[in-house]
Amino acid sequence: CGERRRLGLRLVKKLDQPSLLGRLAGAPASPSRRRCMSSRDRVLELRRHAPAILPSLLLCDFGNLEREVRAVEEAGARALHLDVMDGVFVDNITYGMPIIAAVRKASELPLDVHLMIDNPIDYDDAFADAGADLLTVHVEAKNPRGALETIRRRGLAAGLALNPATPLESIRDLLPLCDMVLAMSVPPGFGAQPFDPVALEKLEKLRDERDAELLLEIDGGVNAGTIARCTAAGATMLVVGSAIFKAAAPYAESLARLNQLAGAM
Ligand code: DX5
Ligand code: ZN
Repeated sequence: CGERRRLGLRLVKKLDQPSLLGRLAGAPASPSRRRCMSSRDRVLELRRHAPAILPSLLLCDFGNLEREVRAVEEAGARALHLDVMDGVFVDNITYGMPIIAAVRKASELPLDVHLMIDNPIDYDDAFADAGADLLTVHVEAKNPRGALETIRRRGLAAGLALNPATPLESIRDLLPLCDMVLAMSVPPGFGAQPFDPVALEKLEKLRDERDAELLLEIDGGVNAGTIARCTAAGATMLVVGSAIFKAAAPYAESLARLNQLAGAM
């Protein structure tokens, strides 16, 4: 990476000393270090800082997108969640590649892009080009296996989502292709819906059965009243929309309280 090259040999040697590396490992990656990391590494870094709260931009003020992104970043968000809906897979339409690219320009945080679209394999490359780091497709969509293979081939982290009504058994064959599983705790399509605890049972099973490498995400209705149950069930990535963007409190205050309830460091 250019930045590291510019540091010069002496400083690079210093950076490579175990004590300093250890300190860096304990802290979230700085924006300049993140710029040097691959998409997959940016996402896998989240595992070391789990549980991580990911603000879902679905309910943010899109008229001030850059300001919103900076605000949640300054408030302590470790990654951002972006909901792409096509009006076919779900009864709602949101946004596509240009918004992902705009957020990419505004932030070095890992971008977790949740595709609620019918035919993700046709768009994997476009979302990778737009700047997604983690791309999640639904098992209920067309050809999830092909879509996951394309995501992996592009060097991104691959996520597989399942709706509340979909049994865990339906994703088992695909797990070797996944870096992350997203258990939906609401039917996908809209923010601010009530939390469905069926997602917790799925996460508990995955946590107990799978190797610790798999990231476990929960999305929908995660708020101060539900977040502790999510982490207790093994969630390592917590998507939060309305409890940040529609809360009366400033973003930093909401995030701090949610982090505390989630048991995050
Ligand atoms: C729902 C989306 C969620 C949504 C969560 O289909 O996938 O990411 O923004 O919003 P809340 O936290 O309000 O349920
Ligand atoms: Zn989502």
